[in-house]
Amino acid sequence: MKMRNRMKLELLSLPGNVRLARVAVAAFASEVDYNVSDLEEIKVAVSEAVSNAITHGYQNEPDGVITLTATLFDNSLEIVIEDEGKGIEDIEEALQSTSSDPERMGLGFVFMRSFMDEVDVASEAGQGTRVILRKNLPGEIHAET
Ligand SMILES: Nc1ncnc2c1ncn2[C@@H]1O[C@H](COP(=O)(O)OP(=O)(O)OP(=O)(O)O)[C@@H](O)[C@H]1O
Ligand SMILES: [Mg+2]
Repeated sequence: MKMRNRMKLELLSLPGNVRLARVAVAAFASEVDYNVSDLEEIKVAVSEAVSNAITHGYQNEPDGVITLTATLFDNSLEIVIEDEGKGIEDIEEALQSTSSDPERMGLGFVFMRSFMDEVDVASEAGQGTRVILRKNLPGEIHAET
């Protein structure tokens, strides 16, 4: 796949950086003619992934490093959010609408999966987590791969 553009951001695990990530991705995606609701969905998915890295991955410790890489391909926008935090023991369970925290709804991954065309999660307990979000570009029909 040919890259049309790429941006890489390194963020500290500070709550305010959820907004920074969302705004940066929206600016990066602005060269694509997504409609307002597609853009809104991308922003929510990015916010959910980054806040998971902060609250779960780094358990709100402010000195964790989160890497966000956004790549524009010919037919999709891909956003990869990585942390080197505590990792996920059971990915299948995490993807369901359950939370490790009784105060939470457990809807982060549910939103990411309903708003994006593809969501991949790779994680190793104690090593960290990588979430890959992909959204097709508008106005094109894509075969399932
Ligand atoms: N980056 C991460 N590092 C470690 N654990 C994670 C990470 N992201 C998600 N998880 C685990 O996956 C579970 C599900 O995440 P999800 O975002 O769906 O729900 P939540 O964060 O618990 O609740 P909500 O997003 O509704 O506030 C979390 O409860 C957490 O245990
Ligand atoms: Mg969450």
